Amino acid sequence: MIGRLNHVAIATRDLAAAAERYRAGLAGPAQVSDPVPLPEHGVTTVFVDTGNTKLELLEPLGDQSPIARFLEKNPDGGLHHLCFEVPDLTAAIATVKAAGIRVLGEPRIGAHGLPVVFLHPKDCGGVLMELEQTAA
Ligand code: CO
Repeated sequence: MIGRLNHVAIATRDLAAAAERYRAGLAGPAQVSDPVPLPEHGVTTVFVDTGNTKLELLEPLGDQSPIARFLEKNPDGGLHHLCFEVPDLTAAIATVKAAGIRVLGEPRIGAHGLPVVFLHPKDCGGVLMELEQTAA
């Protein structure tokens, strides 16, 4: 059911330093976006285009950030979630629920303007999974 890996999200306390690590070292300036504040998601994001997928470097924004607790447990930052594309999010939710995988909350509009939902990491081998519908 899941399709292409849309992005790998990495949480960091210092977005400027993380972006510079890709700009100057691991990637190149053309592959690294400027910071994009997403107040409705409680994060500021830098996108790193790696050709077949992208990285989303996430820094907390505001005091209700969903990644604040993750960074308390992982002060050096780390892998936060994987996002896979699905053609039909409603159908995907029904399928994963039938397989006993818990869905966290209701679908909402994600960072790319498309509906997304998160799956419980305890039901996904310890990895937080995001499903993103490929078209609205
Ligand atoms: Co994501």
